[in-house]
Amino acid sequence: MAGILAELLPEQTLQIVYLIAGILFIQGLRDMTHPRTATRGNLISSGGMFLAVVVTVLWFEILSPVILAAGLLVGGAIGGYLAITVETTEMPQLVGLFNGFGGGASAVVAGAELIDVFSASGSLSLELTTSAAVAGIIGSVTFSGSFVAAGKLHGLVGDSPVSPNVGHVIKAVFLAISLLAGLYLVAQPGLFGESLQTDWIPVYWLLVGAALLLGVALVLPIGGADMPVVIALLNSYSGLAAATTGFVLDNTVLIIAGTLVGASGMILTVIMTESMNRSLANVFFGGLGTGGGGESDEEMDAIYEGNISETSAEEVVMLLETANRVVIVPGYGMAVAQAQHAVAELVELLDENDVDVEFGIHPVAGRMPGHMNALLAEADVPYEKMRELEEVNPTFSQTDLVIVSGANDVVNPRANEDDSSPIAGMPILNVTEARHVVVNKRSLSPGFSGIANPLFARDNTSMLFGDAKESMQELVNEYKEATS
Ligand code: TAP
Repeated sequence: MAGILAELLPEQTLQIVYLIAGILFIQGLRDMTHPRTATRGNLISSGGMFLAVVVTVLWFEILSPVILAAGLLVGGAIGGYLAITVETTEMPQLVGLFNGFGGGASAVVAGAELIDVFSASGSLSLELTTSAAVAGIIGSVTFSGSFVAAGKLHGLVGDSPVSPNVGHVIKAVFLAISLLAGLYLVAQPGLFGESLQTDWIPVYWLLVGAALLLGVALVLPIGGADMPVVIALLNSYSGLAAATTGFVLDNTVLIIAGTLVGASGMILTVIMTESMNRSLANVFFGGLGTGGGGESDEEMDAIYEGNISETSAEEVVMLLETANRVVIVPGYGMAVAQAQHAVAELVELLDENDVDVEFGIHPVAGRMPGHMNALLAEADVPYEKMRELEEVNPTFSQTDLVIVSGANDVVNPRANEDDSSPIAGMPILNVTEARHVVVNKRSLSPGFSGIANPLFARDNTSMLFGDAKESMQELVNEYKEATS
């Protein structure tokens, strides 16, 4: 139906607006590749999406302007509230839920369009049924899979009650049902043409139901440690589902936006799997990454007993006073303790005293991609000081002191030395090559992988036990006193 905008503006306007929205999405993504421009990138992409939604709704008179404004207000308020109140450490769950809603919307819109077109024209094209079947399967898997992933990360959903082999059979059955239902839908117009009957409607919802169960069966057996990879992959799927729904609706901007999300989500997935040294097949079918099952106290004691040397803030300050180069390695504990401001203050003081100080940032430190960069940027740490793993690793042998602030797995040498460990092969920050290493955490408890860390027992490592924020503040105070 032609709406108010379609009556007022020339016919080509809609495609021109879609093109502008597409350019804004691409520019936004480009800006998001660097922390300095990421906020601007977010605003530009959101502006593009706002433009596309408003123009589409008014062009086709999908809703009245009043209802559109009310929807934008209510939806914007809910989204804004969630984004502002959610803890940074809970961001992966929120992203998971957003992906799920995106996938679910694609499946429902594709189904509604099938019914709509069929009731208006009495026939369906092969292109429409094919794209609807694909959108229905991918969108439904994304919806249920994302909710299970978010529930697992939030500790609300437990492990799969069935054995891995039974699980594989269940997945194969749901996959077969959804594919057969999809084939039936696709074959109908081609085989029967005008004689198409309406009995495909329940078949589409059968496809959706089987794909929903497939999403649950796929994600339920995967361990918590691999969940961020799953969420990145489902993010990519939500984009693919949106792009195929774009074909169903013949809507250019949805195809562009969906393809961009699909491609960027897939790139992120690959970066994450490489950083954790996992393959996607291993994540989905390996049954590893249980996130904390880990080793027994006895096994850990065997590594630590008699080999741990404890240090104090005064002693660390003595090391800082003689150091020419210091590297700080932040991890999940710095995020939980919200120690980034104290860390930034210490870096500023070291800078003032002409110490060469940088951060060594592991790509999966913390609990979400870019977690450490975002926290340090919030504390106004200059971006030039944040070094990625490949850049910082060759510098540890010329580093006098490494301070590990609440990190554990990302500095665990067993990734290189123990082929049977759950983190075997994961690239790590080789901090042990530095002259001194100070590890600040509250205890000898393991990190996400649940295994002991022999770094704590090395000759050049000292443990500074305590909460990251309190310990950093103490270091700042002691260093100020020593250098004033
Ligand atoms: P972890 O290995 O998880 O270790 C974090 C350490 O922080 C813990 O050992 C804990 O020891 C300490 N800690 C907790 N609260 C603290 C506090 N208030 N003050 C000081 N220390 C505190 O962290 P990591 O080195 O950042 O490695 C990340 C791990 O998570 C990797 O295994 C990675 O694969 C996984 N993972 C990553 C992501 C992404 S995308 N970044 C997502 C999910 C999982 P204490 O209890 O002794 O203090």
